Amino acid sequence: MTATPTSPAMPASSDPASAVQPPRGLHVITWGCQMNVYDSARMADVLRPLGYGPVERPEDADMVILNTCHIRERATEKVFSELGRLRKIRDERVGNGQDRTIIAVAGCVAQAEGEVILSRAPYVDLVLGPQTYHKLPEMVARAARAGGAVIETDFPVEQKFDFLPTEAAPQTQGNLTAFLTIQEGCDKFCSFCVVPYTRGAETSRPVASVLAEARRMAESGVREITLLGQNVNAYHGDNGNGGSATLAGLVEQLAQIPGLGRIRYMTSHPRDVDQSLIDAHRDNPALMPFLHLPVQSGSDRILKAMNRGHTADEYRESVRKLREARPDLALSSDFIVGHPGETEEDFEATMQLVRDIGFAMAYSFKYSPRPGTPAAGQPMQVPEDVKDRRLAELQALLCEQQDAFNADMVGTVQEILVTNRGRKPGQIAGRSPYLQPVHFDGPDHLIGSTVKVAITTRRTNSLGGTLIRETASAC
Ligand code: SAH
Ligand code: SF4
Ligand code: F3S
Repeated sequence: MTATPTSPAMPASSDPASAVQPPRGLHVITWGCQMNVYDSARMADVLRPLGYGPVERPEDADMVILNTCHIRERATEKVFSELGRLRKIRDERVGNGQDRTIIAVAGCVAQAEGEVILSRAPYVDLVLGPQTYHKLPEMVARAARAGGAVIETDFPVEQKFDFLPTEAAPQTQGNLTAFLTIQEGCDKFCSFCVVPYTRGAETSRPVASVLAEARRMAESGVREITLLGQNVNAYHGDNGNGGSATLAGLVEQLAQIPGLGRIRYMTSHPRDVDQSLIDAHRDNPALMPFLHLPVQSGSDRILKAMNRGHTADEYRESVRKLREARPDLALSSDFIVGHPGETEEDFEATMQLVRDIGFAMAYSFKYSPRPGTPAAGQPMQVPEDVKDRRLAELQALLCEQQDAFNADMVGTVQEILVTNRGRKPGQIAGRSPYLQPVHFDGPDHLIGSTVKVAITTRRTNSLGGTLIRETASAC
């Protein structure tokens, strides 16, 4: 567990490489959070009718999309360095007499720095923000006609979700787990964060639209779905009866879709953990007992400076209620050390909160000033060496807790969603309710089922076990 460039790492659904070379190769590079992973898959969906299909190497691609993240420092520099590499690849292709690769920059850096990208890298063909990927086919046509760069970084009134292909996407066949974005944007304006500026205002997808996409996913074989949103538990999608549904209400309806046995959601905000959601964790067995609930800091002073809208004790109280409702619930979180004004005492309050709660895993980051955010201009920036030390101390404690959590799995029986063959012959592998990879001996026909496994060993990044019952439920 280390600080990663993205928020919580969950294995993304991987598209099986297509056996037949598509008429036009598409290579998508995805950085950032799970919402970008989802967006990349949808960009591939909207380009499929134009003949684009996935290729593994940019060298083989007629179009490369770089889907970017702006959350922490050096995001823009990283984009320009990758673009330089892609330009070289394109030049080599053209030198070999192949078609000129279309280079597109998408995602949050495109939104925030679109014009800068076009002036510093004029060889880029398309620049599109996260809300405009449904316009890709039209942009490709415009770029071909005009022969120049095309940029789309508005926040259009129409929802991109309304333009998704309605048939089950062929490339999701074989995927047992999938992300589904149900809410976008953010109105919370935490002092340190660029998301409200790159993803726009908070909007929820209507219930009917979410259910339709979830059904398509289930029909194509998906068994576990992760609902995505920057503040997913603030979900308030139109319920079709003139009112709005809560996340708990949506989960209840999703759980009735045949085949969808497991539901997760992320990222939730502590301020939006309401009683209906706590009750859903008690009442709905499809809701997995693993919750990502970022707290950022354990100090009330810093939480206030961050504009998080809750205190450390309010966080503790929400966790207490959630654990009371679902005793096997485990938590993960995000932390920032070195927010402007953070003293040793504030940092100690964060360490104390970690000791009090006990996290199964967590992501921790050094505060990184983001242009245009309130915290970036604040006095009392914390020196880099102090941030380094605090991050190391925090990560040591979080690693200890993660190790202890994984060690405690040995001797328990867990329900495992079998997702693939294992590395050794006769072995299959899957994921636990807590997203731990688990390997055990068993027949291939169990892939796609949920089975009970006695956990017997713990390896560095996975668990080993023995199949104790072929439950072989469809989900
Ligand atoms: N909506 C989520 C967070 C999305 S961003 C929430 O409110 O919790 C994912 C994580 O990146 C954040 O939880 C935070 O820990 C980290 N992050 C965001 N901006 C950052 C910054 N300027 N410096 C360091 N870490 C940051
Ligand atoms: Fe960023 Fe805060 Fe919104 Fe999360 S809640 S996306 S941290 S502004
Ligand atoms: Fe990054 Fe944008 Fe996600 S800034 S974390 S890709 S919302």
